[in-house]
Amino acid sequence: MLSSHSDTRPLWFDTATIPKFHQQTGQVVVDVCIIGGGITGVTAADLLKRAGKTVAIVDVNRIGCGETGHTTAHLTEVLDIDFQTLIANFGEEGARTAIKAARHAINTIEANSKERGIDCGFQRVPGFRFSESEDGVDGLEEESQAALKLGVQNELLYETPLPFEVARAIRFDNQAQFQPLEYLASLAKGIEGDGSFIFEETRMLDIHEGEPCRVTTDRGIIIADDVIVAANVPVSNRFFLQTKIASYRTYAIALKVADHFNASALFWDTLDPYHYIRSFEFAGSRYLIIGGEDHKTGKDEHTAVHFQKLEDWAHERFTVEKVTHRWSGQVIHSVDGLPFIGRNSLSDHVFVATGFSGTGMTFGTVAGILLSDLILGQQSPWADLFDAGRVKPWAAIKNYVRENFDYPSHMITDRFTPAKSTDTNLLRENEGAIVRIGSKKVAAYRDPQGELHLLSPVCPHMGCYVHWNDAERSWDCPCHGSRFTATGQLVNGPAIADLATETNDEEAPMIPERYEQPSPLNPFAGPTLSMFFCPLKDKPT
Ligand code: FES
Repeated sequence: MLSSHSDTRPLWFDTATIPKFHQQTGQVVVDVCIIGGGITGVTAADLLKRAGKTVAIVDVNRIGCGETGHTTAHLTEVLDIDFQTLIANFGEEGARTAIKAARHAINTIEANSKERGIDCGFQRVPGFRFSESEDGVDGLEEESQAALKLGVQNELLYETPLPFEVARAIRFDNQAQFQPLEYLASLAKGIEGDGSFIFEETRMLDIHEGEPCRVTTDRGIIIADDVIVAANVPVSNRFFLQTKIASYRTYAIALKVADHFNASALFWDTLDPYHYIRSFEFAGSRYLIIGGEDHKTGKDEHTAVHFQKLEDWAHERFTVEKVTHRWSGQVIHSVDGLPFIGRNSLSDHVFVATGFSGTGMTFGTVAGILLSDLILGQQSPWADLFDAGRVKPWAAIKNYVRENFDYPSHMITDRFTPAKSTDTNLLRENEGAIVRIGSKKVAAYRDPQGELHLLSPVCPHMGCYVHWNDAERSWDCPCHGSRFTATGQLVNGPAIADLATETNDEEAPMIPERYEQPSPLNPFAGPTLSMFFCPLKDKPT
């Protein structure tokens, strides 16, 4: 078992070879600038370059260090929302289109893997959605019927290959799994050259839309006809999507198990939050990956508990020999259940993709394909369904109200909630907490060397107070999911700036001066950017 909660590192980083790319220098001119070197950005870049365009991918970290490196890499046409809800929200035709898009994405990954000889362990496997209790049986039966109505073949079963009993399960054939970073790395290697670039450790600061567009980074300027924002959450202050999405943390562990469970399949249960299982083989070793325990980002300080719950769940069902890896990722849910992919509202040349929920590799690939089609001026049968500007009031209203209540609620309550302590000496090594020092609240963290780091707790996005995350040793914002390292560097957007260092005695302002102010054009202003912990740089000690 891992000895400390700091050892969060995805299995994928130990089982893939990731190429290193340079930082940007000076001014670059390309046809398309892509913000984010994950599955969406790299897929789009690959297709655009093959169609004769020049591209520049800009990643604030190393490619794949964002959510592509923190996924569990299920590939499935069975979405996070059940088929009944999908039909209710988008009609049968819309639901069929979403399923066809997912199927096409999986076929694309399979074709790329075979035709280019990518050793990413792509494997067609069945998927089993199961319930261990009778409570979930009715829902599974309804889902099976709804799936059949949409042309998704499935079978209701009383047994699965799992080594424990289920009350009922649905088997969906022809789903898939793969090693996401090996796939990503292989596509990325073909992108550089002939006027195209991948720039790592280059932070996007601003997008000025025009003809051409002008992307400012911390290392120079990129001039491009079109810009794709593929950074998991929307970036820059031109985006209206913020209120239509919500950020959740999800957890995963990789295990060695002693019993003879060797089924290659995807499994996920009907609970909320749910559990899911897949397998992975590398260099003669077989791993079981178990994930789940999702919760809204910033809502839970004792996040280490979620890893423990996953381990307990695994121990109750498998003979666990060893937990080899544990990691967490950021899942972006849309309020109506489908991703937002397409032109940004009021834009001609800026494109966005977000809200992939728990099917990030499948819909990240859908997004790469759809956005490259739009930029190439090709018709796409998916464009209307995933339109980034859509509003589905009846489908989304409940989730919209629930997810957006957090902002005003936390803005007020966190300011008046008493600090945990007034004595920073009580903080042990590797601990963080909101403490009161004199008249102000401070985000305090003591590093392994015993040094105390004092930061403003005010999120630079829209002014909420950050919360401590003990498993990942990060400061997480409960309002829109921005995250920062223990010493304040930005990890996940929508914030674009680091937490401020605490330097004065003034009470933290309700809205920080550094944060981009709302305007009539954008009442939800706040430049956004995804930066992630990069296991390629931050190996555990
Ligand atoms: Fe929006 Fe923190 S206030 S992410």
